[in-house]
Amino acid sequence: MASVEVNGRIFDEYVSAHEIAECVKKVAERINKDYADKEPLFICILNGAFMFASDLFKQIELSAEITFVRLKSYEGTKTTGDVKLLSPLAVNLEGRDVIVMEDIVDTGLTMHGFITYLKNAGANSVEVASFLFKPEALQYPDAAPKYIGMEIPTKFVLGYGLDYDEKGRNLPSLYVLRGN
Ligand code: IMP
Repeated sequence: MASVEVNGRIFDEYVSAHEIAECVKKVAERINKDYADKEPLFICILNGAFMFASDLFKQIELSAEITFVRLKSYEGTKTTGDVKLLSPLAVNLEGRDVIVMEDIVDTGLTMHGFITYLKNAGANSVEVASFLFKPEALQYPDAAPKYIGMEIPTKFVLGYGLDYDEKGRNLPSLYVLRGN
């Protein structure tokens, strides 16, 4: 089994790039079907979701748009309990069918805050497409994603866009922290 050292910690390969591609394809197929008569606005949460968003958006066969936002809620491997919009959304959300593209929903705090923001801004509908979901860690039920690449246990992972203190995003597979 392949392993990597990132910021002095050992991570073991957990999900291969091939398996990830299969998950993303399934998510795209569901969205293409569910939004067949709509023109959804995809919002990619930077930085973590950029790889998932890129692979997913390439497989969207709808008249869709994409925009990007930076939120912050995490420091190291523990949540800080804070959600901040670090960049403004330069799109009118009034009446839009929004699909948020997230790397991982853990406690759900980030998505809970962002969903509330989008609804207050006039979005017609808001759904979350998340590459990963940790159901056992969820504390905000409204943040449970409709579209999930993969459900995982409450362990710290990195790769495929996800980081450990900004390192490891470039790994094409998903890795899990050893002994976690
Ligand atoms: P939540 O607000 O607790 O759902 O946390 C969501 C955010 O925490 C994600 O967008 C990630 O940036 C970060 N996060 C949660 N779990 C992990 C992990 O296992 N690895 C890397 N980042 C994570």
